[in-house]
Amino acid sequence: MSAPLCLAPIRGITDATFRETFASYFPDFDLAMAPFLTTYQGNRVKPARLKELLPENNQRLPVIPQILGKDPDHFIVLAQLLIDLGYTTINWNLGCPYPMVANKMRGSGLLPYPEKIEAFLEKIHCLPAKISIKTRIGRKDKEEIFELLPIFNRFPLAEVIIHPRTGLQMYDGRVDLDTFERCLDHCHHPVMYNGDIVDADFFRTVAKRFPTVSGWMIGRGALANPFLCAQIKERELPTEPIATLAAFHDEIFLRYQELLNGPSHLLGRMKGLWFYLAHSFQGSNKLLKKIQKTKNITRYKELTRQIFSEAAWNPGGES
Ligand SMILES: Cc1cc2nc3c(=O)[nH]c(=O)nc-3n(C[C@H](O)[C@H](O)[C@H](O)COP(=O)(O)O)c2cc1C
Repeated sequence: MSAPLCLAPIRGITDATFRETFASYFPDFDLAMAPFLTTYQGNRVKPARLKELLPENNQRLPVIPQILGKDPDHFIVLAQLLIDLGYTTINWNLGCPYPMVANKMRGSGLLPYPEKIEAFLEKIHCLPAKISIKTRIGRKDKEEIFELLPIFNRFPLAEVIIHPRTGLQMYDGRVDLDTFERCLDHCHHPVMYNGDIVDADFFRTVAKRFPTVSGWMIGRGALANPFLCAQIKERELPTEPIATLAAFHDEIFLRYQELLNGPSHLLGRMKGLWFYLAHSFQGSNKLLKKIQKTKNITRYKELTRQIFSEAAWNPGGES
């Protein structure tokens, strides 16, 4: 297997702290895409907004930064700052399905407007970096992508990452592999597959069907089962996987404790991780409810210690 595995951007979870800590325990991703930075008016950018992408905070995995926005001039300002930090590829988010974003004609909300997308690409084309696009197959309708691919083909894009659902679908239903296959036929750029790779079996199914893809982007599946990439690459797992999970958990807890302001932020962040990670354990629904109810750090620590010492690790099993 040679096409690289890319950690998907999951805003609120896969920040620089997560990426660095995750990669030190689970070293099988080849690269990561960072969650989006939003464009904004004006030319002044607060340095804090770029902290997540500073090279010193991203040492373990090559990272592609991502920008969400519809104004090409604002995109250029932010992209240039990222280029100044040393990034050579910038990703444009055309996939975000959330109404708060899409209703403002950003993310997947731009997909029904091919002429706006073309004008945008025309304008940002001058940037001294490669541009890649992460997209859904449409906002409302899966045929929208077939109006867009000829436009993408006119620009020297580095890659197109396709999650074969519409924006309106959010995460419902199955990924549309037939439409993805048609996209491969119509796109002249390298195409990365993204969507629902939750176990090595599904990976093998798509890998067999789409041998020409340029990479595989994996999000929720790897958050639920951090050993997923090792399983895909057929690497040996530790003899005590739960001990590795616990060590990862404890380290990221400490890192967030230093970084975040107060226990409620810390608990909020850790509960976000458990929303996915609980799926690795037997009885995950019950477990998750207990974690979500936890109101203080002492109880949280007791509970997680109990999970790591007693719960059965069961990725992909019954919840
Ligand atoms: C909570 C959440 C936050 C996300 N944030 C981003 C983001 O910042 N940028 C982006 O391109 N996609 C984002 N995504 C989409 C994922 O990158 C990915 O495309 C999607 O989860 C499908 O892949 P998966 O089935 O492997 O998780 C997000 C998804 C979720 C569930």
